Amino acid sequence: NIYSDLKQGSRSVAREIADLIRSKQAKWEKCILGLATGSTPKSLYAELVRLHKDEGLSFKNVITFNLDEYYPIEKDALQSYNRFMHVHLFDHVDIDPANIHIPDGEASKENIKAHCLRYEQLIEDAGGIDLQILGIGNNGHIGFNEPGSSIYSRTRLVTLDNSTRIANAYEFANISQVPRLAITMGISTILKAKRIVLMAWGPGKAPVVQKSVEGHVDEQIPASLLQQHNDCTFVLDEMAAAEL
Ligand code: GLP
Repeated sequence: NIYSDLKQGSRSVAREIADLIRSKQAKWEKCILGLATGSTPKSLYAELVRLHKDEGLSFKNVITFNLDEYYPIEKDALQSYNRFMHVHLFDHVDIDPANIHIPDGEASKENIKAHCLRYEQLIEDAGGIDLQILGIGNNGHIGFNEPGSSIYSRTRLVTLDNSTRIANAYEFANISQVPRLAITMGISTILKAKRIVLMAWGPGKAPVVQKSVEGHVDEQIPASLLQQHNDCTFVLDEMAAAEL
């Protein structure tokens, strides 16, 4: 779906999320959302906060699972995805804090495997993700699944590509401060979501969007693996769609 600008695109995704939350509320069901960080979803979260304030959209029945987190990182660090989510969404809506799940950047090294297994289990116990929101890295990563990530991969500790550390360095004082590791949901975790919406804005993303949508399914372009999913939509502005 191509929109004139990111505001229009974000609005349409926010509307879909609001409709899903409300349809679940009408059936007394929980709504399980998979959420992303980075600059891309900021306008989406701003729109959801607006819908909460202006239209009374409630998040009481919403359970969230975030895609990824740097490792190691303190929960309250300026650059942590935990903090990002609170600043941009959770602090402004009525979600129950017990329903928020974000990979733990403070988990001890010995506990990481158990933590990742538990994360997968919690998603399963919740009934699986109804709607997964994604951004896309310049190298095609989704979550922190860098090129070469297996289609069978699950939540795990990964090493970040240098290009990702450079791309994300703006959030840190300098590149040496960017963690070398991260915890991310795997490709198979993402593909298990009932519906997936990937958003991309601006000309910088146009080449990787083209490869992901029109290229071969290739583990070297992780977002191209989404072609295997039967309910996945790319929501783009005109610039990100320019090479399609
Ligand atoms: C980050 C995140 C991804 C995000 C991507 C794009 O490193 N781990 O989940 O989708 O890179 O970031 P941005 O939206 O800032 O372009």
